[in-house]
Amino acid sequence: MIDFIEKTIKRAGEILLQSSRNVIKEKGGGGNVVLRADLDTEKFIIKAIQKTFPQHAILSEETHDQIVNPEKKEHLWIVDPLDGTTNAKYHIPFFAISIAYVEEGVVKAGGIFDTNRNEFFSAEKGKGAFCNKKRITVSDKKDLQGLIVNVGSPYNDVNFNLTYPLGQNFHQHGTRIVNFGSAVLECAWVSCGRLGAYLEAGLKLWDIAAANLILSEAGGVMIDPYNSEKPFSIFTQKTILVGNIFIVEQLKKLIK
Ligand code: IPD
Ligand code: CA
Ligand code: CA
Repeated sequence: MIDFIEKTIKRAGEILLQSSRNVIKEKGGGGNVVLRADLDTEKFIIKAIQKTFPQHAILSEETHDQIVNPEKKEHLWIVDPLDGTTNAKYHIPFFAISIAYVEEGVVKAGGIFDTNRNEFFSAEKGKGAFCNKKRITVSDKKDLQGLIVNVGSPYNDVNFNLTYPLGQNFHQHGTRIVNFGSAVLECAWVSCGRLGAYLEAGLKLWDIAAANLILSEAGGVMIDPYNSEKPFSIFTQKTILVGNIFIVEQLKKLIK
């Protein structure tokens, strides 16, 4: 599966970079838009999956975004054809494509491709996480002092208010706050130790499916800080805090 993901995501990356960044439509305010590049890239990925795996279900942000009981599908592909749309629109080179393959609710393989840096982050369940075939792990830093924490800036006002003000709180405990603007790539950058942690609310399945596997295979954890008693599920939880276990535990305590 990972070979198929790699081949498909890299070809999709060429299409993404060649496509126009013109806005095709607005999606519910807050600057949430669909670009021609979203649609071109998604069309290619969906065709590739349908051709190779005609029986498999597909959940993809722009044209296949509804699916009943995705966690029960025997074979499911979860696709974000362009994550970091606002960055892409303004030609800020921080966006990526995400593809995950899921069997009965378990993410078995995932890939995130950063077309601008030509970095392919990948994982297969139980086999570790990689960037361009080199093993990656989360940072082993255990204290908050000087730690870079990416606090996401969601489109939606309610989600923004839920997490963004926490950046001030984290800052008072010594962290540096950034927001790069692509959930999948921010998770990938935590997975390879560039970022110390990442917090965001209101994410969708296509933002976290591949990222969840890559992160856990890199030794990191993804939790919902408001709901951390039960095991995290990409299908039900949409607020995420990610990092190594020591950092996640400390930041969680700062979130009331
Ligand atoms: C968005 C990006 C952004 C995050 C939003 C996501 P999109 O995905 O990941 O960084 O703040 O919550 O919806 O719209 O660019 O695919
Ligand atoms: Ca998207
Ligand atoms: Ca997205």
